[in-house]
Amino acid sequence: MTAHRPAAVIIMAAGQGTRMKSAVPKVLHTLGGRSLVGHAVAAARALEPEHLVVVVGTGREQVEAHLASIDPGVRTAVQEQQLGTGDAVRCGLAAVPDLDGPVIVTSGDVPLLEPQTLLDLVAAHDDEGNAITVLTARVPDPTGYGRIVRAADGTIDAIVEHKDATADQRAIGEINAGIYVFDAATLRDGLQRITTDNAQGELYLTDVLAIARKDGKRVGAHVTADEMQTEGVNDRVQLATLRAELNRRTLDALMRSGVTIVDPRTTWVDRTVTIEPDVTLLPNTQLHGATTIATGATVGPDTTQTDVQIGPGAAVIRTHGSGAVIGEQASVGPFAYLRPGTTVGVRGKIGTFVETKNAEIGDGAKVPHLTYAGDATIREGANIGAGTIFANYDGVNKWHTTVGRYSFVGSNSVLVAPREIADGAYVAAGTALTDDVAPGEIAVARGKQRNVAGWVARRRAGTKTAKAAEEAVAGTSGDTGVNGAGAEESR
Ligand code: UD1
Ligand code: MG
Repeated sequence: MTAHRPAAVIIMAAGQGTRMKSAVPKVLHTLGGRSLVGHAVAAARALEPEHLVVVVGTGREQVEAHLASIDPGVRTAVQEQQLGTGDAVRCGLAAVPDLDGPVIVTSGDVPLLEPQTLLDLVAAHDDEGNAITVLTARVPDPTGYGRIVRAADGTIDAIVEHKDATADQRAIGEINAGIYVFDAATLRDGLQRITTDNAQGELYLTDVLAIARKDGKRVGAHVTADEMQTEGVNDRVQLATLRAELNRRTLDALMRSGVTIVDPRTTWVDRTVTIEPDVTLLPNTQLHGATTIATGATVGPDTTQTDVQIGPGAAVIRTHGSGAVIGEQASVGPFAYLRPGTTVGVRGKIGTFVETKNAEIGDGAKVPHLTYAGDATIREGANIGAGTIFANYDGVNKWHTTVGRYSFVGSNSVLVAPREIADGAYVAAGTALTDDVAPGEIAVARGKQRNVAGWVARRRAGTKTAKAAEEAVAGTSGDTGVNGAGAEESR
């Protein structure tokens, strides 16, 4: 790869994107977990260029901030007015004035372009000794694209824009993908000589090819058979089409690497996700960001994970998670909501209708049902009863609660933070816990039960309840399920 290492990649991304009908600059729209320009930057990075320049214009501040966040090594060049692709590259070149050697130009709105295609383009450029090499494709409907006009020897005479093309030229099915390798000197020279004498009154980058050709330089093409890699996004219909295609390619690659995907039609995986072999993804699973899944895990159905690490053999069912770490053989869901800062230890469990945030669930600890655990440390082997609430917020501040090793919190307890429940302690069901608990203690904080004999007969006389009570006392109850042996057995 380093043999072909280019002096610079210039990504054109200043255009308006009017057809997106969006307040967001076109190149910031996303697919497969990256922005359009993010895909272009990722492809360019694979070439290890000395300089990586993105030409920005429309929505400049937003695009610059985004680029700084995804790749601080990117340099931006501002194109104040969108005078055409030739002007855009002029602006890009001005950011790196003393370039020598090959310069690659790509577009910020062609998201499926793969690094290998760029490498092949650069290799063809070198092998053929070209001054310029352009990436082309033969497409069924070339409308709108620049057409490749070839000389008898197969080299390129010119690229003619659709709006400038004659009827004969419009019949040409080979199109300009808008991706090029230029010899730096040829590019610099050509850009000084292009004019706006064309149907759109723009400075066309493509005119540099005809100029070089007239100077007797060799201009070649590298044809890709994978037309989708050359497709640009101009509106949201194309965005959806390319998003689906990108996802299909991602899933195909995962399946070929050993991941089982039960229903590819309803499974969405970002480019940025890592999945090991022998993971199973069940229908309706969406995996985003820096999510990683280790071997043997099962994820889904109906699960969305963003920036979540899932350990080997874990099961994550009907769960919405972000910023969480799920341990080996742990089990999560169904119907769980993991918020950032959640960690689950080896064989830990987060069960049904449980929400967690900034919560550490230790090895083998269980939070099985109907719980909110916020700002909590639940140590190894502890068990949190159904309906427990970690009351972490006093209306002003958030506070932390710890439940010690092998401690047990009874159902329907509220733990009013900050609280320390030591190792080996109990909290009785229904407790509103406002004091800490020492090792070996049980804390009970609830109204003491009192039974009032004869209350039903006095206050509910004549009801079916009163009749049932009378029958039960007299031993004439017809239904053993109410109070008889059957009820005991069913427990
Ligand atoms: C361009 C090519 C055309 C090719 C097509 C491939 C030219 C003259 N034509 O046409 O041959 O088939 O791409 O998709 O180059 N941009 C700027 N500043 C500008 C104008 C454009 O940064 O002043 C950027 C856009 O943001 C975009 C890229 O350049 O990323 C291409 O611009 P666009 O207007 O889409 O060019 P096309 O008319 O599609
Ligand atoms: Mg375009």
